[in-house]
Amino acid sequence: MRIDLTCLRTGLLLALVAAATLPGSARGAEPTESAAAAGENKDGADWKTWQVNNEVTDVASVQRGARNFVSYCMGCHSIKYERWSRLGADLGIPAEVLQKQLIPPGDKPTDYILTTMPAKDAEAWFGKVPPDLSLMARARGRDYLYQFLKTFYVDSTRQTGANNLRLPTTAMPDVLSELEGLKRAVFRDVQERGEGGEVNHTLVFDHFEPVAPGRLTPAQYDSFVRDTVNFLDYASEPTQAARRSLGLWVVLFLLLFTWLAWQMKREYWKDVH
Ligand code: HEC
Repeated sequence: MRIDLTCLRTGLLLALVAAATLPGSARGAEPTESAAAAGENKDGADWKTWQVNNEVTDVASVQRGARNFVSYCMGCHSIKYERWSRLGADLGIPAEVLQKQLIPPGDKPTDYILTTMPAKDAEAWFGKVPPDLSLMARARGRDYLYQFLKTFYVDSTRQTGANNLRLPTTAMPDVLSELEGLKRAVFRDVQERGEGGEVNHTLVFDHFEPVAPGRLTPAQYDSFVRDTVNFLDYASEPTQAARRSLGLWVVLFLLLFTWLAWQMKREYWKDVH
């Protein structure tokens, strides 16, 4: 009995080529803008069904999200369980770029990602200390964060001038309005007759109406939010990106191994009639 070596070698080569090209092409895949808002109602009527569809293995997107976080969130929020150096290593950000563009002046790479806003001031300004965002993606869910960042609306009855559908009467100001623009929420008055015959009114959200445009188009804003949520998703479990890409190699190895075992079996049983 002789194992057909040429056949084995070609197979091995094919598997290796597949293994070498697959993760590469996955990494090169850019999230398309049209996929961003695909299926979403422009006026927000279906906001409860919005899904972020982020991909934590998309390192470029997580990098953009990190930049968004530093520019727009870190003034109030920390990610206190992660160090800058870890962030740099995980996302492949060179040390000089990390120091120059992300780390606040005076902080070291070994420092944790902390906001400079003193908790006492935050309490006085917002009535609440902005929560640490380290575990927020896991605590609330990624779609929740996406919906939260996309359903701020103008509300003059609130101290911040803004309100939110996902977290009504939120203390967080509409910090992304400069990018997204301003929108108004239109509510429907739904009347129901109670048991005693009295009429109960409830205001139910109907749709958003644009008030003023922002710097980004709706599709660009969706991408911005998706990247930001992608970053928070990564931060909530920094090992997951590495673990998932390792998973791909494990699956490829198993496929190759199955194929080899099958070839062996075929060889061994060839002469058995
Ligand atoms: C000006 C300060 C400020 C900035 C900037 C800010 N936030 Fe907040 N954020 C708050 C405050 C205050 C709360 C607490 C809100 C509450 O509990 O009502 C909050 C709460 C949150 C929550 C928790 C919501 C929940 O369900 O409890 C998330 C998530 C969040 N912020 C994300 C972000 C992101 C992402 C950014 C950057 C794009 C950001 N925030 C920028 C002040 C801020």
